[in-house]
Amino acid sequence: MINGEKFSERPIRWAMIGGGRGSQIGYIHRSAALRDANFELVAGAFDINPERGKDFGKNLHVDPDRCYSDYKELIAAESKRADGVEAVSIATPNFTHFEIAKAALEAGLHVYCEKPLCFTVAEAEELEKIVEKSGKVMFISYGYAGHQMIEQARQLVANGDLGKIRIIKMQFAHGGNSAPVEKKSGAAAWRVDPKKSGPSFVIGDVGTHPLYLSEVILPELKIKRLMCKRESFVEGRALEDNAMTVMEYDSGAVAYIWSSSVNAGADFGFTFRIVGEKASIAWDAEHPNQLAYQIQGQAPAVLQRGAGYLYESARADDRIGGGHPEGLFEAWSNLYTKFAKAITLREAGKPIDFWYPGIEAGVTGVKWVEKCVESANNDAAWVNF
Ligand SMILES: NC(=O)c1ccc[n+]([C@@H]2O[C@H](COP(=O)([O-])OP(=O)(O)OC[C@H]3O[C@@H](n4cnc5c(N)ncnc54)[C@H](O)[C@@H]3O)[C@@H](O)[C@H]2O)c1
Repeated sequence: MINGEKFSERPIRWAMIGGGRGSQIGYIHRSAALRDANFELVAGAFDINPERGKDFGKNLHVDPDRCYSDYKELIAAESKRADGVEAVSIATPNFTHFEIAKAALEAGLHVYCEKPLCFTVAEAEELEKIVEKSGKVMFISYGYAGHQMIEQARQLVANGDLGKIRIIKMQFAHGGNSAPVEKKSGAAAWRVDPKKSGPSFVIGDVGTHPLYLSEVILPELKIKRLMCKRESFVEGRALEDNAMTVMEYDSGAVAYIWSSSVNAGADFGFTFRIVGEKASIAWDAEHPNQLAYQIQGQAPAVLQRGAGYLYESARADDRIGGGHPEGLFEAWSNLYTKFAKAITLREAGKPIDFWYPGIEAGVTGVKWVEKCVESANNDAAWVNF
């Protein structure tokens, strides 16, 4: 159970790049990192607009002298301080992740970076080498993986409760872009601009989330090949707003991921169902405290977060006990707690003995997007993974 007790002598000095006023994802990074007081927000380059970023930082009670115009200024100034930042979170649009993450790692900072990590496998592998050389910890921001029931799902699979895995059905298909909303919203506009979003819109923006959950829950399954069909239903959109990816694993299991932002009427539409030879599990991100567990021939069950019958490692992430709902903020906090623990262990020269969304998850996500695009651009041909 997480109860706020500390495992390090003092909070880690932490900064944010991006995530400024009005951003979608900035607040949950701060809320999650600061929840258990393992981090202290001491600096930031919060906004593409320096003045707005500095004003915002002041309102977060960050020392105005440590609210910088951009990430380069932040890294240069903080590197000179004896009490400079030790870790940084990057919550900027996709096209900036590579250069900012590279600069931060090379300056000796631990990095928590938004997904998708970057645009190409070549860039992702370059970052992987820099992470290895630097000895620093890198997390990729797959926040849904911090839900307790994802750990429970992982343990059910690991313990053979489902039997051999046959089928994985996943989707992250919301309806938020059913109309040309990019004409009014800056956050929607950069997502459909290939220069800023990368080679895909929904495949990278939403599809990589269920993909990562499948990696956490089914670590033994390795993708052998995939095929992808993508299209844009809203006229004039340069990148796809809908895509279907079919995957085949080495084990013979099959999967598909529906990535969409034109699933009209769906608020979120992020679900999965994993089918084994004996039983299936199903989860819905809008009801994250429950995991359906259906054994063939028996009455279907719904497992509840916080319950005593869950596997021990799932109960370890519990914060309030059963019945009380927990949500995305707790899931993200769990991952930021892991980030702090990983940094503390690494700095002490000790091994990190738990799973987390590290650089390899970032590389796989980028590779998956690249392969999906390659297949889609070749009339949905099978592409080896
Ligand atoms: N993990 C998740 O669940 C999740 C959810 C939403 C978004 N994201 C990812 O988070 C990132 C940001 O998305 P968003 O929706 O918050 O975008 P947004 O457009 O709402 O906000 C981006 C923020 O970054 C700032 N910014 C832009 N360029 C900058 C730069 N060079 N230096 C400093 N600040 C800069 C902007 O001023 C703004 O404050 C994207 O990579 C996106 O894919 C992840």
